[in-house]
Amino acid sequence: MPANLDGHIAIVTGGADGIGRAIVELFCEQGARVCIADVNAELAIALADEICAKGQNAFFAQTNIADKDSVNNMVDAVVNKYGPPSILINNAGIIVVTKDPLENSEETWKRIFAINLEGMWNCARAVIPYMKKAKSGSIVNLGSVHSFQIVPGHFPYAITKHAVIGLTRSLAVEYGADNIRVNTLCPGMVETPTALKIWSEMDDPEAVRKAVGDIHPLKRNASPKEMAYPALFLASDESSFMTGQSLIVDGGRSALYSE
Ligand SMILES: NC(=O)c1ccc[n+]([C@@H]2O[C@H](COP(=O)([O-])OP(=O)(O)OC[C@H]3O[C@@H](n4cnc5c(N)ncnc54)[C@H](O)[C@@H]3O)[C@@H](O)[C@H]2O)c1
Repeated sequence: MPANLDGHIAIVTGGADGIGRAIVELFCEQGARVCIADVNAELAIALADEICAKGQNAFFAQTNIADKDSVNNMVDAVVNKYGPPSILINNAGIIVVTKDPLENSEETWKRIFAINLEGMWNCARAVIPYMKKAKSGSIVNLGSVHSFQIVPGHFPYAITKHAVIGLTRSLAVEYGADNIRVNTLCPGMVETPTALKIWSEMDDPEAVRKAVGDIHPLKRNASPKEMAYPALFLASDESSFMTGQSLIVDGGRSALYSE
């Protein structure tokens, strides 16, 4: 039986689309009240409306996680509307793909770190005081298979995702005594609307989709929902003695040796 989140107040960054959206939907089904913290107002408002129409609880707070003030305003809005957050899903992230690391501009480097690493810390530092006071909290940071493996062409994305592991483990150690758990969820390839759109612009989208799927021993890509259940496990009391860890949900990809 999936865990129940009744009474929980969750923030899901990047909750308007992709993996974040699936997490928002599942957490609301499980009884949590959820803040969709995203830069994309149009998608997020439509999702919040859909959820509220089902009698569940979600609201949108316009948030750029790279901007500390924006994050603090979002957390204030959550506290005012629902109360202190007990769960943070640090999901929002961007990917940059380039052939040669030297091609990356300084601006790209700064932007990806500002979102993928500092953005997560901005959110964590804003919710931890509430979690410390409550002596309870769960933070889930989205890593990747790129947190452990270097696939050429993913510089500096992979560096940020390696750093997410460091952020997770550091916060887990620093705040364990406050009963705040921090873990990383590391997906393999997930078929989000964004991924499907990128593939659709390629010569043979179905061939690309299959080729990427074939990297995983399960011979397919994941659906966003297949990340929402592991996120639920990490966020809920079902994983109450687990902190500082990485849950790799990659269809076996990291187990596969290839030359
Ligand atoms: N999709 C995959 O295959 C995959 C694999 C491994 C890890 N991940 C990680 O999972 C997370 C979610 O990825 P996804 O594929 O669902 O992404 P996505 O692009 O489908 O959705 C990302 C969401 O984040 C929002 N967002 C972007 N920048 C933001 C910012 N600065 N502040 C607030 N919101 C912002 C977007 O508006 C969007 O709603 C990311 O951290 C990503 O690195 C994804």
